[in-house]
Amino acid sequence: MRTLSYAAALAACILSSNCSAPNDAMSTTHDATRDVHSYARPDEVRVRHVSLDLEFDFDAQVARGTCTLKLQRHVQNAPLWLDCDGLRISAITTVAGDRVPYEIGKPDPNIGSSLRVDLPPAVDSVRIDYETAPDAGALQWLAPAQTSGPKPFLFSQGQAILTRTWIPLQDSPAVRVTWDARIRAPKGLRPLMSAQQRGGSHDEGWTFAMPQAVPSYLIAIACGELEERAISPRCAVWAEPSVVDRAARELEDMERMVASCEELFGPYRWGRYDVLFLPSSFPFGGMENPCMTFATPTILAGDKSLVALIAHELAHSWSGNLVTNATWRDFWLNEGFTVYLEQRIMEHVYGEERMRMEIALSMRQLGQELRSMPREDQRLHIDLAGRNPDDGMTSVPYDKGAALLRRLEGAFGRARFDEFLRAWFDEHAFQSVTTAEFRAFLDARLLSVDRAASAAIDLDVWIESDGLPADAPSAESAGFLAVDEALAACKKQRSAEPLLAADAKAWNTQQWLRFLAEPTFDATTLEGIDHAFSLSRSGNCEILCAWLDAGIRANYAPAFATSETFLMTVGRRKYLKPLYEALLQSPQGRERALSIYQRARPRYHAVAVRTLDALLEFAPK
Ligand code: BES
Ligand code: ZN
Repeated sequence: MRTLSYAAALAACILSSNCSAPNDAMSTTHDATRDVHSYARPDEVRVRHVSLDLEFDFDAQVARGTCTLKLQRHVQNAPLWLDCDGLRISAITTVAGDRVPYEIGKPDPNIGSSLRVDLPPAVDSVRIDYETAPDAGALQWLAPAQTSGPKPFLFSQGQAILTRTWIPLQDSPAVRVTWDARIRAPKGLRPLMSAQQRGGSHDEGWTFAMPQAVPSYLIAIACGELEERAISPRCAVWAEPSVVDRAARELEDMERMVASCEELFGPYRWGRYDVLFLPSSFPFGGMENPCMTFATPTILAGDKSLVALIAHELAHSWSGNLVTNATWRDFWLNEGFTVYLEQRIMEHVYGEERMRMEIALSMRQLGQELRSMPREDQRLHIDLAGRNPDDGMTSVPYDKGAALLRRLEGAFGRARFDEFLRAWFDEHAFQSVTTAEFRAFLDARLLSVDRAASAAIDLDVWIESDGLPADAPSAESAGFLAVDEALAACKKQRSAEPLLAADAKAWNTQQWLRFLAEPTFDATTLEGIDHAFSLSRSGNCEILCAWLDAGIRANYAPAFATSETFLMTVGRRKYLKPLYEALLQSPQGRERALSIYQRARPRYHAVAVRTLDALLEFAPK
């Protein structure tokens, strides 16, 4: 029986250790580190390089072409196991053109289908001819009406497990590949990818190359009417023509951010660092695609007040892209480290006070979220078996993760902690790592070296338990004192008067966000605030969203019309979720929420739709 024979071969191979585990990824044979969100068995056959040759058909809303996989075979007769979801595969062949048998497994609602390729002996490369489904979860095809110009737009979102909806591959963050691509797109549309841009033309196609091994979730494409503005020799901003100049002004500090990060954590290893602004339906704030961060235009506030998001995506060039979580259980290694680095960059570029404000805001957000979150989900090392890894995207991996690193910094001092972080990145560069490996490294380099400094830190409590540990460092900002006083006075007096006395006209964005963080005002107070500060017309999406949240909850009439416009134009899940939640709790609740959602839903990305369908208990017909 062939299953038995390759299982036996694998066992023999491991026992005799004549098949050395590839040094750039974790073994997936042990349960603790197995990626439950992938069908891949990289210890048997591992994909090393992916070559794409794809045409993007905007009329049919599909990508079609070929994907060639170069393989490393560790177990002789083992088949190649890939992930796919909704792909229409027409043939799999060897380079010589011979057909290779394959079978697509029954789809699982969370992780899609397995694709088993029965490799003939000595074959180390296969070519897959395929087409994506029009509803591929990673791809959003936008009509001109959903963009800032007269042309359509397409973008992909791979993280966490959506790359398999447009490329058949081993879609696990423990499997790193180099890749290249040739892309054809309609005339007038420029494709960009998360790689080195090798140029091209409409007739020849556009080519891209990523010579450094990356996890599959970092393979990304966007295609639209795009223009570039240089910020420095290695940094540029890309966007649709009507947005690009505004975007370049907002990000004029980009080069300083990259330089800060290099000074703190070692060289930037990806060549260029560009930011691409997508249309407003992008479901996230940002996505750290290598060489080319994808960003929401909602951070273009005109005053650089929301650029911490760029610091965050840039920081992923170290934590996440260089050193990657091996499974989605270890997601906090990506995001907690990145939030910590983001805060350090913000301090370096904009000063300590700005950093303290950002930390205080995020810690308050974490506290609020923890109050309504199931206990098991409050762990950094979360168990996501049987679930969609997207469910792990809460404040816990982000802000509790960063708090742990600040706790360690406090215990060992900044100089030693920075040295530790630098070693972590240098010694794990281009590798995928587990929580256990982090703990071992931390123990070897800091904890066991200075028992006195580490005595009070209980890592089991921090990493494997719910809640926020009692020794979590607090952060406060002097600039928030006046805000808190004004807030208490406004609530007590049910009036906006204390804001005028506090000179709130001079407040920065973070101070307003602190003021609006707990949206429990009455409608009269809100009316007074709106009259004095015009928050209903704020061009700052972060403030506007917090304001609308407060407005809906207070049944403040003007908030409803503005919310509707906002929900019809913005697709960022971070804003959609609280606003629909607030609507659900308002007097005309579900009815009002659904009447907006039914119209807005076709404009949202699949990632946001999944969250909102569940929230609104919406079942599409
Ligand atoms: N990598 C994440 C986005 C992500 C996480 C997408 C998990 C899919 C699954 C990105 O770096 C991120 O964290 N974005 C945040 C912004 C950040 C400033 C906290 C976002 O989009 O809100
Ligand atoms: Zn992130």
